Amino acid sequence: MSDNKPIVFFDSGVGGLPYLKLALDKLPKELFIYVADRKNYPYGDKTAAHIRQLVIDSIGCIINCFDPKLIVVACNTASVVALAALRKTYSIPFIGVVPAIKPAASLSENGKVGVLATEATLKNEYIAQLIRDYAQDCQVVLIPANDLRDLVEERFFSVSEDEKRAIVRRAVAHVRAADVDAVVLACTHFLHVENEFRQMLNSSVHLIDSRAGVINQLKRVLGMHNIQAVKKQGTDTFYLTAASTLEAHYKKYCRQFKLEYSGVLK
Ligand code: DGL
Repeated sequence: MSDNKPIVFFDSGVGGLPYLKLALDKLPKELFIYVADRKNYPYGDKTAAHIRQLVIDSIGCIINCFDPKLIVVACNTASVVALAALRKTYSIPFIGVVPAIKPAASLSENGKVGVLATEATLKNEYIAQLIRDYAQDCQVVLIPANDLRDLVEERFFSVSEDEKRAIVRRAVAHVRAADVDAVVLACTHFLHVENEFRQMLNSSVHLIDSRAGVINQLKRVLGMHNIQAVKKQGTDTFYLTAASTLEAHYKKYCRQFKLEYSGVLK
């Protein structure tokens, strides 16, 4: 059996694009639709209950619009807060993003791990459980960086390189102060400034994200359900859930990631 229906990648904004990029490389026969939940951005400053409801509603619209065969929730905040509820509410398979605390703890040599994420992710019990399960013998430092997320979402192409680097440097200063030697990028938006992090951090510091694990899991789940596509039918496309004055900025992201910009989801 095969299935040429699209796979949706979903995030509050553009954070999931680096995850989608890897999926495009590894699964060239699949058709992808990317949905940025602009209507509800940002998630990370809201309460868990609020995020959960917003995500359930947005995913409901996406399922009605595109009838996807699978949805990748390429957002740590939405995954830790809403993945279980999504699986209870809808019958299609979901893949979420798990903050990579487990690999970070095993790579760390000094036993100190930093987790960079939104406030909602860091406050969630799911993170506490990951730490209890996989990093009990480590000192785990939680570092919120909402300003970095906003930079990537709204000003990435308009700020000067100096300003961009100054914002990344603020996050890096927390990492240095905590003396960690493994850093988890646990907000998908931060992958857009991965190079800046690498340039500023000492080369002995491990910078870890969950892209490879998520795309491997995507391949596994497609195989398990026997729903791989035979041939890409259509164009990989980007949608927003609400109109934005930042249209030109989103179009630049689409050019960078080779997606067709389709505006607001109907
Ligand atoms: N990209 C999202 C994440 O991975 C967060 C963005 C937001 O706060 O809306 O957590």
